[in-house]
Amino acid sequence: MSVESPSKERWATRIGLVLAMAGNAVGLGNFLRFPVQAAQNGGGTFMIPYFISFLLLGIPLMWIEWGIGRYGGNAGHCSAPGMFEALTGRRKHWAKYLGALGLVIPMIVFTYYTYVVSWMLAMSFFSLTGSFFGLGEVDAMRGFLASYQNISDSSFVSGGVTIGFFLVTFCFIAFVLSRGVSGGIEKLALYGMPILFVFAFLLMARVLTLPPAVASPADGLNFIWNPDWGALGNARVWLAAAGQMFFTLSVGMGTIHCYAAYLREKDDIALTGLSTAATNEFAEVVLGGTIAIPAAVVFFGVAGATAIAQGGSFDLGIVAMGVVFQKLPGPQILGQLAAFLWFFLLFIAGATSSVAQASPTIAFLQDEFGWRRKRAATAVAAVGFGLAIFHVLFFRMGVLDEWDYWAGTFGLVVFAAVEIVLFSFIFGIDNGWKQLHEGADIRIPAPYKPIMKWVTPAFLAILLGWWGVTEAWPALLMENVTDPATIPYRWVSRILMVALVLGCLWMIRAAWRRRPDEGSST
Ligand code: ALA
Repeated sequence: MSVESPSKERWATRIGLVLAMAGNAVGLGNFLRFPVQAAQNGGGTFMIPYFISFLLLGIPLMWIEWGIGRYGGNAGHCSAPGMFEALTGRRKHWAKYLGALGLVIPMIVFTYYTYVVSWMLAMSFFSLTGSFFGLGEVDAMRGFLASYQNISDSSFVSGGVTIGFFLVTFCFIAFVLSRGVSGGIEKLALYGMPILFVFAFLLMARVLTLPPAVASPADGLNFIWNPDWGALGNARVWLAAAGQMFFTLSVGMGTIHCYAAYLREKDDIALTGLSTAATNEFAEVVLGGTIAIPAAVVFFGVAGATAIAQGGSFDLGIVAMGVVFQKLPGPQILGQLAAFLWFFLLFIAGATSSVAQASPTIAFLQDEFGWRRKRAATAVAAVGFGLAIFHVLFFRMGVLDEWDYWAGTFGLVVFAAVEIVLFSFIFGIDNGWKQLHEGADIRIPAPYKPIMKWVTPAFLAILLGWWGVTEAWPALLMENVTDPATIPYRWVSRILMVALVLGCLWMIRAAWRRRPDEGSST
């Protein structure tokens, strides 16, 4: 029997749900992170582990998260703690504490992600005003971005501009969140996603018709689609591909669960889930892969584009693209317009993902503490703002890198490992398989049942072990930190993360103690 979620929110339309879920997944990861990861890891070489990760990690975890979400939502819980406990038949009370990961991870990602989204709004504005036109070299463009990011030595009126764009972005996202699931998040996706796709198609057409300069657009496509099979034995490429898969699909984040919780018991998840994953891959591989990489290859060559990508996540999508728009043939105003399309596309993609990241904690406060939507959204926005300001003030001190690594990269794999054990072994794969097919418009291919039970958990275990030894342990010891001045700030950011985990555990305990039937079993 279905129990209505206390928040009583639902998606208004199926297309709204698909676009909101696609908006959750399609984000900065598709257009900024993917091209850099692909370029840093050998282009076509990266694509083979990437597709294997899609089939064996992305797809099964996506279905599992939709299944857990709908099941939990119909038991009255739209966030991971209650969902995890429901999966155990409410017999294993410790399961809800594991669900803290589904609150902390998206909340941490939300704080730094939203700050980066605000850069995209700023860059859209600077495109229209032509502020960076005239800085036609990579180093000059890097300087422009760094001066915007580092407000302490910013030429942007002492950082006021940076803070201003951040405030506008944050208020916009908080406003959407306060309007609720169908009135805010769904509406944003209904308007935003079509605009994003139109802008991406226009840019793709422009890039593919560019006259050759240092190289041709075909050379760029060749770079991304021609594998170097010999490099496949490189563990780093596999880890990068799996990490990208998690980030881009938003699996292991707690956000898919939350959105799926607003479905009805018999709403299809098999086909709808697959459609949104496919939409994300289309946006990433076809659109994301056909804009930034070929454009950079045309003006810098394959070696040049690869070297720029080594600079970091933002160097291809912001720095190289900022130069590319200045080098486009034709009058400057057309370059400015193309730059606006690109950066505003990134802003929309980021905003629709940001609202998803704040949603699990809002849902938790609504469902478990009985708060109304506006109150819950205001509280989450206030905490998120306080934490995000830390990034605004100390961006250069490696704070964002620490949070992105522990929550936005390693944390996603840990959370996925927890949920797959709960789903496939404690809830039971037979139950789970039946649950995924309730109201389904398609049958999930049969091999996915053993994949969910054995292959994906094994893949995750190898990934965690391998990652733990080769990257996470050295990262924990800060062996890879090049600037010792950042170490104290990195420690403070770690302490804050631990405090957030403890705070979430405390909130879960407090919420369950309020229940007359369960106060004694927490
Ligand atoms: N899935 C989101 C992105 O790719 C987080 O940016």
